Amino acid sequence: MKWHTAIKIKKLKPGKKKMVMVDRKLILIGQSNESYFATEALCRHMRWPLAYGAKIEDGCIKCPLHQTKHKLNDGSLLEWSPFPLFPPYGKLVGILSKKKNLKIYETRINNEFIEIKI
Ligand code: FES
Repeated sequence: MKWHTAIKIKKLKPGKKKMVMVDRKLILIGQSNESYFATEALCRHMRWPLAYGAKIEDGCIKCPLHQTKHKLNDGSLLEWSPFPLFPPYGKLVGILSKKKNLKIYETRINNEFIEIKI
């Protein structure tokens, strides 16, 4: 594992997130509560790009499509495809793929760049 430059700090607005390519991997990088986070860019459920509409709240990231939710500190799964509740479409599409944790990458600041460890 080594550190890679991901994005210039000033290109990531407070509270925003972006999808970037780092070391041939798609990464979601964002800022929340004065700190940076980096995760794999696509939802573990049906590969929705989390940069488009994912909500960051209470230390978690929630996919907008079926609202699968993971913790940002370790990527552990909290809820798997709970939406929509009725008709129970979310639960049905949830069983089509295996439950997985979200990959989380370590971040650090180096001069004016955010780096991630891959
Ligand atoms: S694609 Fe993200 S929850 Fe279904």
